[in-house]
Amino acid sequence: MIVKTVNFVKSSGKWQECPEPTIPEYAFIGRSNVGKSSLINTIMNHKDLAKTSQTPGKTQLINHFLVNENWYLTDLPGYGYAKVSKSLRKDFEKLITNYILNRKNLVNLFVLVDIRHTPQKIDLEFMEWCGENGVPFSIVFTKQDKLKPGAADRNVEVYKTKLLETWEDLPDIYITSAEKKMGGNEILKFIEKTNAY
Ligand code: GTP
Ligand code: MG
Repeated sequence: MIVKTVNFVKSSGKWQECPEPTIPEYAFIGRSNVGKSSLINTIMNHKDLAKTSQTPGKTQLINHFLVNENWYLTDLPGYGYAKVSKSLRKDFEKLITNYILNRKNLVNLFVLVDIRHTPQKIDLEFMEWCGENGVPFSIVFTKQDKLKPGAADRNVEVYKTKLLETWEDLPDIYITSAEKKMGGNEILKFIEKTNAY
């Protein structure tokens, strides 16, 4: 898919405030600071469409972007950010889970995980929750440039092995680097293939 146009639509603090669900939607989710906003900029070939920051917790609202006038790309706040108060964290979690469960046009969630880390409980639990609720998702490894290729591939294999302890099948997996502008085309191909409204 060629991205011809991308426009910021709005930021929403509640799922009810999101744009009308009339076209397919793809959302990016993962721990705070994993690189959601950076990856969106890579995929859209845009420097600062989605705001990025070295400080976790940058994205606090649901941000909708309209791509090629016919699908939504959504940047979500990160989950599991330890440094905000417990009640604020709960608010974020509620915002995210309500959005996912109520957003009728959501085709797929891209769950981002940092390729440098061993499988983290919070991500595995989030994927379990998606499974229990019938929410389709793919896994996107981020920051591939931070490891040597061999180490990156090994970590992906460790992750797959861990997933197969609880899942019968593996989801689609993408390996990306916003730094190297890598992996975005594969994600766009998947979106093109599944975007059938
Ligand atoms: P929140 O909105 O706070 O949840 O974070 P986020 O997941 O949107 O992360 P963001 O894109 O803001 O990136 C966090 C930090 O990681 C920034 O300093 C980015 O420059 C850096 N980063 C993101 N992706 C990559 C990558 O592929 N490679 C490298 N080296 N750094 C990256
Ligand atoms: Mg962000």
